[in-house]
Amino acid sequence: MSKVTVVGAGNVGATCANVLAIKETASEVVLIDIKEGLAEGKILDMFQTETLLDIDTKLTGVTNDYSKTAGSDVVVITSGIPRKPGMTREELIGTNAGIVKNVIESVVKYSPDAIILIVSNPMDTMTYLAAKASGLPRNKVFGMGGALDSSRFKCYLSKAIDANINEIEGMVIGGHGDTTMIPVTSRATYKGIPVSEFLSADQIKQVVADTMVGGATLTKLLGTSAWYAPGAAAAYVVESILKDQKKVIPSCVSLEGEYGQQDICIGVPTVIGRNGAEKVLEIKLSDEEKKLFEESAAAVRKTNSILKEIGVL
Ligand code: LAC
Repeated sequence: MSKVTVVGAGNVGATCANVLAIKETASEVVLIDIKEGLAEGKILDMFQTETLLDIDTKLTGVTNDYSKTAGSDVVVITSGIPRKPGMTREELIGTNAGIVKNVIESVVKYSPDAIILIVSNPMDTMTYLAAKASGLPRNKVFGMGGALDSSRFKCYLSKAIDANINEIEGMVIGGHGDTTMIPVTSRATYKGIPVSEFLSADQIKQVVADTMVGGATLTKLLGTSAWYAPGAAAAYVVESILKDQKKVIPSCVSLEGEYGQQDICIGVPTVIGRNGAEKVLEIKLSDEEKKLFEESAAAVRKTNSILKEIGVL
């Protein structure tokens, strides 16, 4: 028996709930939103697919009633507004910080033992806020960004090499921002062979550039931010938690000296299992990647400092 709550029934939250239901990752999925009827409607729609897909995940949709989320094993927070074309994730902070802070309080009240996964943007800063506001240990509150950015990195690598996306390995660390994420090219492989054996330096540079603006490219095409891969990426992390899969997923975790950083939440390779973010892996980075990581951390810190300026921390 396992219960997952997804807070926010927008595109990303609903997709996450739908993937969890279809894959029967959890025995119960609760979707909650502040907008009257939205979560109920989406859940009812999903419930009607269950007979078509031969699945029987218990589904609950609620407006604002956190008592229905009580006893959740995992809570995914997607609340807040998404970006519009031309906006950066960082520009959302003024609106989303207050929302996320309130949500965290309600979530912790009803599910004090839950593992909390932050998806709301700007994700690194929202994770930092959630960690501070909840006082939970770092394994229990962390953010999803690297799973998504790595899927985009693999997508562009597979297109450039003309290879099966599932035979590509690659990860993105650092901040979840257009200029802060770091696709780790030195470690990216196709069937275990470095991608540099298949692609020229210029091609790799293009893959990196495309990956970094992967979200913005979709926002421009769609008029709002993406949801299929973001929702599936959050569900992927939830699955690794509930099934104790111990997958290494780049995740936004509070660092305690790893990679020379502390008092920051930023993307690093992390073992994800039943206890959440169980272990940070310190991989060897090239000198260039180390420099990029430091710059990324500085940029994330700058966004974090806005939390104090606007009085939410
Ligand atoms: C994206 C948003 C969800 O990268 O952060 O698509």
